Amino acid sequence: MNWSHWFERWEAMQSAYLPQRQRRFDLMFRLPNFPHDAPLRILDLGCGPGSVTFAALRHYPNARVVAVDADPVLLAMGKALADQRISGSARQRDSVASVQSVEFVLADLRDGAGWAADGEFDLVVSATALHWLTEAHLAKVYRRVFRALKPGGAFFNADHIAADDPAMQAHYRDLLHAWQRANFDAGAEDWDGFWRGFEAALAQDGIPAQREAVTYWEGTDDGLPRQFHLDTLRACGFADVAVHWQDLGEVLVGARKPL
Ligand SMILES: C[S@@+](CC[C@H](N)C(=O)[O-])C[C@H]1O[C@@H](n2cnc3c(N)ncnc32)[C@H](O)[C@@H]1O
Repeated sequence: MNWSHWFERWEAMQSAYLPQRQRRFDLMFRLPNFPHDAPLRILDLGCGPGSVTFAALRHYPNARVVAVDADPVLLAMGKALADQRISGSARQRDSVASVQSVEFVLADLRDGAGWAADGEFDLVVSATALHWLTEAHLAKVYRRVFRALKPGGAFFNADHIAADDPAMQAHYRDLLHAWQRANFDAGAEDWDGFWRGFEAALAQDGIPAQREAVTYWEGTDDGLPRQFHLDTLRACGFADVAVHWQDLGEVLVGARKPL
């Protein structure tokens, strides 16, 4: 299985949906302002094949990352890439210096337990994942994140987050879809196309796709309204709750657990 090929296709597919995807990854690690060489404990929620996790290790090479997802096939891709990078070329090793410091964990975020100990993490991050959850489950995850952070720790979530005004959100959606359509018309691969190709490649190599187990989508493509996120984070006890970056309904929200 050529995992690097499929990871590149994943990155290209996600980037066709998300303007400035890499920019938001960059900001979620620069804004918390930890020293570059700090031995941080980082948690990546809804990690998929590890896009944010690997970005974390480029920013903080001495960090240890726990990467959580409920999709065993995407986790398998992340694990394979981490292994390849450890045994790979010097250039690959340099690009993700401490990739052996990743632990990929199969868990459903809605379960609330098992994926993080209390007070364990300096930084919790998530990208394009929490909009899969209902209001009730997202509130539960935010409470869990608060407990998982050390005092002074930070949470950064880059996701689809809707405008509070439904008319404005409809306008955002139209503009975003026009931008995405232009990418697909120009030949970019979409979500279904990626999965068709990836599942065929897995089958060819005799690797069980196990995707029939992926039954946990319960969200909305627009995400929940921005005010819901801000209010819920404050209700959990977070301070410095703020929108740091936004492009239509793509938003980076940050929050800090008080000391
Ligand atoms: C669009 S992907 C984003 C993956 C990665 N963060 C990225 O930016 O490339 C959304 C991910 O969230 C995961 N996810 C959604 N709901 C989840 C849940 N309840 N528990 C664990 N993972 C979940 C999915 O399995 C999927 O891998």
